[in-house]
Amino acid sequence: MEFHHVPVLRDETIEMLAIRPNGVYVDATMGGAGHSFEIVSRLTEGRLIGFDQDAAAISASQKRLAGFGDKVTYVNQNFKNVKSALSELGIDRIDGALMDLGVSSHQLDEGERGFSYQADAPLDMRMDRRNSFSAYDVVNSYSEKQLEEIIFQYGEDRWARRIAEFIVKERQAGEIKTTLQLVEIIKKAVPKGARKDGPHPAKRTFQAIRIEVNGELTILRQAISDFVDCLTPGGRLAIITFHSLEDRIVKTAFADIAAGCTCPKEFPVCVCGKKPQGRPVNRKPIVAGEAELLDNPRARSAKLRVFEKVKIYQV
Ligand SMILES: C[S@@+](CC[C@H](N)C(=O)[O-])C[C@H]1O[C@@H](n2cnc3c(N)ncnc32)[C@H](O)[C@@H]1O
Ligand SMILES: [Zn+2]
Repeated sequence: MEFHHVPVLRDETIEMLAIRPNGVYVDATMGGAGHSFEIVSRLTEGRLIGFDQDAAAISASQKRLAGFGDKVTYVNQNFKNVKSALSELGIDRIDGALMDLGVSSHQLDEGERGFSYQADAPLDMRMDRRNSFSAYDVVNSYSEKQLEEIIFQYGEDRWARRIAEFIVKERQAGEIKTTLQLVEIIKKAVPKGARKDGPHPAKRTFQAIRIEVNGELTILRQAISDFVDCLTPGGRLAIITFHSLEDRIVKTAFADIAAGCTCPKEFPVCVCGKKPQGRPVNRKPIVAGEAELLDNPRARSAKLRVFEKVKIYQV
């Protein structure tokens, strides 16, 4: 199957990356190579290292970018391993990087992957199918409290408690194995009146389970630090998020890394020794314009933040 992913905030992202034609760039989330295509098209002597933990995304990207030959290197790994993966490639500095977080439209379209509440499939949702932990484990083995917490926090669903309660009740009669079984349970839990006009009642729970299965929020903070460490002076890290918790992690991480010192305020002198590493380029996140929203409703929740590594270290 072909990817049909419209790269979100394409022009804004490319502009913010301020690409140097002979630079080394990392696309941490290649997906269907929409952004990668734009980046690599602007390189002359430079190269692009593309990460995706999903093998299907890597092969789709390889097809799409075949014309660029060895300008592109593909890494089928979680981007949390950026430092070790780059050092294996003999790369010690990069000029820019992009993370376009979350699920790809291809993953949603491939019904059998279990990401979609519209297609019947085994409960899976693993981006990296080499991992054994899946949506099945979350739905069948988490306690009611744990389910409520992830559905509330990662799904921001006000019916989290009832949905968790119904899942636990239903699974006493036997394992919950498929996406549509789960959808039916959620429909029972969310009162009819509350479903009118809103998004599909299962949308938020599916998002929550996907974030949990793939540890999407837990790896992010450290990964941001690691990417900033890898940047050359003046290099930029651009991050597109689709979730308010994710955006908060990015915003706070950029502010912390910009501040450097992490000593408690009451300390008279700095003992941590951490220096400011750069600055967030935009104070407010960049969001999609009207034209893009008409074309791609998914862009509605997209937020782009960019960090620039300090040009010269202050002493
Ligand atoms: C929103 S899509 C990216 C789409 C891409 N920018 C494009 O234009 O086609 C996100 C992709 O990132 C991958 N992904 C998400 N988290 C990842 C992680 N921690 N490490 C590696 N890949 C990840 C997913 O498998 C998915 O293919
Ligand atoms: Zn300090």
